[in-house]
Amino acid sequence: MKFLSALTTALLSTAALAKNIVLTNDDGWASTEIRATYRELTNAGHNVYLVAPLEQRSGFGGTFTFSYTDKLLHDDQFHFKKEGDAAWGHEENDDHIWYFNATPAACVGFAFDYLLPTHFADVKIDLVVSGVNQGLNLDIPMFTISGTIGATYNAVYRGYSAVAFSGSTSNNSFYQDSLNDDSNAPANIYAKKVVEITSKLFESQGDNERVLPLGTGLNVNFPKVTTLVKEGSEECSDPQFVFSRLTGEHVAIPGLKLNETSGVFEFSNLKNGSIATGVKYNGIFDLPSENSVTENGCWTSVSAFSVDYSAPEQEANEAKALLGDLLVQRS
Ligand SMILES: *[C@@H]1O[C@H](CO)[C@@H](O)[C@H](O)[C@H]1NC(C)=O
Ligand SMILES: *[C@@H]1O[C@H](CO)[C@@H](O)[C@H](O)[C@H]1NC(C)=O
Ligand SMILES: *[C@@H]1O[C@H](CO)[C@@H](O)[C@H](O)[C@H]1NC(C)=O
Repeated sequence: MKFLSALTTALLSTAALAKNIVLTNDDGWASTEIRATYRELTNAGHNVYLVAPLEQRSGFGGTFTFSYTDKLLHDDQFHFKKEGDAAWGHEENDDHIWYFNATPAACVGFAFDYLLPTHFADVKIDLVVSGVNQGLNLDIPMFTISGTIGATYNAVYRGYSAVAFSGSTSNNSFYQDSLNDDSNAPANIYAKKVVEITSKLFESQGDNERVLPLGTGLNVNFPKVTTLVKEGSEECSDPQFVFSRLTGEHVAIPGLKLNETSGVFEFSNLKNGSIATGVKYNGIFDLPSENSVTENGCWTSVSAFSVDYSAPEQEANEAKALLGDLLVQRS
């Protein structure tokens, strides 16, 4: 009896926390990390719809572009889908795993404007998860550049709670080459951490309608773990979460450098940020920047962002005053 009631309780609590999730990314639907994340979220009892770009769309930020043909005009980078195949579709054996030849932000549009209403009776989505990205997306410069985060803020625009996840992996690997059950594999560790933080959010949500406050999302960055950690450095396999902020005096701003030998420009981060990236207008002022968390040991940064990009009242008023009598009251 005792066993039965414990089992019933366990089943009930699992059922209560079984959520509907849209999962996307910018490395493409066939990336190892998104497939590991799909597997772990599904194993945790959630109903997951993986809806992601056909192929690598890193660095597309919030760009909203999509296929203008109904067939693919080229193979994807892994030759998984080929020229002439449909511009969108799902895995043959799983109608919850979809690709669309589009940017990450447009995949969010595909999920909510077409796929869910057309094929899944408008199932109510509790959370949008983006990632885990193959590469870090730290601080405000990456906030606008990253397709992983672009998908996330596009989901937040629509009123969904959404979380972006990025890892310290750099290889753009194909799940058919690299997905495995090795508990030490970075993709699998990151996927387990996604389940850990989303489970906590759902538990805290309780009976509330929303997971996160309206207009708010989270940006999560995982440090190097297990095989990615440099020899001689501290081992890391379970990086705990540290709350952080997107801005900071020492965040890396994208920059350029001319290579005089080749005559072409190369990417060159301005590593020390600027006094502008160090401004403290919004948020909790004494939090560390994301890079200072993730790049200094076995810690995962978690920042809250909002899609209210308007300048705060004082700065908006200063800008307004500069425009003076050029401004009129609209009748
Ligand atoms: C990187 O990804 C490619 C494509 O999936 C794969 O063939 C290769 O084995 C990967 N390399 C490493 C070091 O994981
Ligand atoms: C500049 O370009 C040359 C020629 O392509 C290359 O060999 C060299 O590594 C580059 N220098 C730097 C600092 O990247
Ligand atoms: C970067 O900032 C640190 C801390 O303020 C300072 O010590 C260092 O000199 C700066 N480096 C550069 C290249 O400006």
